[in-house]
Amino acid sequence: MPYQPPIPASYTAMDPVETADRIRAHKKRFGRRLVILGHHYQQDDVLQFADFTGDSLKLSQIAAEQEGAEFVLFCGVHFMAESADILTDDSVKVILPDLSAGCSMADMAAIDQVEEAWDFLTAATPEKIVPITYVNSAASVKAFCGAHDGACCTSGNARMVLEWAFRQGEKVLFLPDQHLGRNTAYAMGISLADMALYDPHEPDGGLTAGEVVAAKVVLWKGHCSVHQLFTPAQCDEIRARDPECRILVHPECDWAVVEKADLAGSTEYILRAVEGSPPQARWAIGTEVHLVERLAAQHPDKTVRSLAPMQCLCTTMYRISPPHVLWSLDRLAAGEVVNRISVDPRTKRLALIALDRMLANVSPEPATAK
Ligand code: 13P
Ligand code: SF4
Repeated sequence: MPYQPPIPASYTAMDPVETADRIRAHKKRFGRRLVILGHHYQQDDVLQFADFTGDSLKLSQIAAEQEGAEFVLFCGVHFMAESADILTDDSVKVILPDLSAGCSMADMAAIDQVEEAWDFLTAATPEKIVPITYVNSAASVKAFCGAHDGACCTSGNARMVLEWAFRQGEKVLFLPDQHLGRNTAYAMGISLADMALYDPHEPDGGLTAGEVVAAKVVLWKGHCSVHQLFTPAQCDEIRARDPECRILVHPECDWAVVEKADLAGSTEYILRAVEGSPPQARWAIGTEVHLVERLAAQHPDKTVRSLAPMQCLCTTMYRISPPHVLWSLDRLAAGEVVNRISVDPRTKRLALIALDRMLANVSPEPATAK
């Protein structure tokens, strides 16, 4: 992950009202030349400046639609800014206000590990393996999938992309999130026994050639450090305490949690489920705390709380702060593009193949309902 040097202390010491006023003044001055995108997990203090908010899929679609914008300020994490750079034309400069806003899950699949896994898996079986990467991955991993007849997916269209993959070949390598892969494949009727887990820290992923031959889906041993904090015991506890409460979780949660939940779906799916529920509805939600708290504030007529008793916070997303937003805009106004996220042309070309397949396989998301 690139290093973010400290920004001048004057920014962190500034009164938050002044910081917000100066960011708004920049937005006015830049007009349509500047687009600010914000992921739903972002803190409200940052999201208030976003022209568009969304989950990974929606923000990718919005980035791809930008015409006339010169600068995209991405209030999300590194892989999202990379995707925006890949999906926009070369004249658009994508900025990540704090370079240390990475994603621990994306870091769990380095391109050299993926290449090593591919050599082993393709030598182990004569059947065609289609590599599918969750959008939460490095551009180099997306490019690998593009170069090997594979695709990208998000939590909002993982099922459609997996269905597409099984029309292209007999097996799927799903990376880097084992949970999204397992939950999606299971919802499609693939049994757990037909899935193998590849551990990049073990020789040959800890698998025998026979296990690869037997598997329909090979899952990469990666996870989200936020969503893995939700447990089946928390579901049992809510059920015992509040039988009317519905449990709604993100598919990055463990399979055992998704099994116990009433519904599972992407961030946008979670938003729509709560919005569409009747007054007095009661929800326990298994996803990032900023989104859960925002939903609770937006729906005072409903009970919305986190499934976990502790704060499940995406600490890297949280690094994007109003002082960092202002600092990057001040530098931009002074003619200096700081923290530009720029993917090299070859990686861009191949990653675009994978991302285009992701964007082509979009339809209203079915819930994983029990
Ligand atoms: P979505 O935005 O696809 O719901 O994914 C959640 C997430 O973990 C983003 O990093
Ligand atoms: Fe990565 Fe999880 Fe944070 Fe999403 S919530 S950016 S997957 S660590």
